[in-house]
Amino acid sequence: MEKVSVLFVCLGNICRSPMAEAIFNHKIQQFGIAHRFVVDSCGTGNYHIGQQPDPRTVKNARRNGVPIDHACRQLHVNDLETFDYILAMDASNLSNILKLPNASDHAGKIMLMREFDPDGKGHEVPDPYFGGDDGFQQVFEILDRTMFHFIEHLKRNHAIDS
Ligand code: 4NP
Repeated sequence: MEKVSVLFVCLGNICRSPMAEAIFNHKIQQFGIAHRFVVDSCGTGNYHIGQQPDPRTVKNARRNGVPIDHACRQLHVNDLETFDYILAMDASNLSNILKLPNASDHAGKIMLMREFDPDGKGHEVPDPYFGGDDGFQQVFEILDRTMFHFIEHLKRNHAIDS
């Protein structure tokens, strides 16, 4: 069966989007539906290419029981063709994705992550990079609840139940 592909995008690809990817992977494994998905994350910036997530991201994921392992990569124009869903963490990420050539041909699949957050629909996932540990936990909690609703949406729209 055709897999559904999902790409999470932030600026640096060391805080928010690798955390989103890790939470998504953890949940689809728990739900027994991981074989139905291809999942990745990337950054619009090129500052940290090849690096593992920020140590604070790794510490937070571990504290919340979520395995995390990702090598930072930059968003590429081909991602627009490759992925079925492209989820931006904030409005700046979204606007940078929409600047890629031919993005308007793919506009329907490019959206803000928190379009799926019932407690803050369309809000941004705040950038925790310049803050403290509490910012990372706040990001985790936003992504954890939002991801549950995003996965429910995917299950409904792609007839995925196992
Ligand atoms: P992220 O956070 O976009 O959630 O990965 C950031 C990581 C690095 C930088 C900015 C934000 N930076 O400026 O290096």
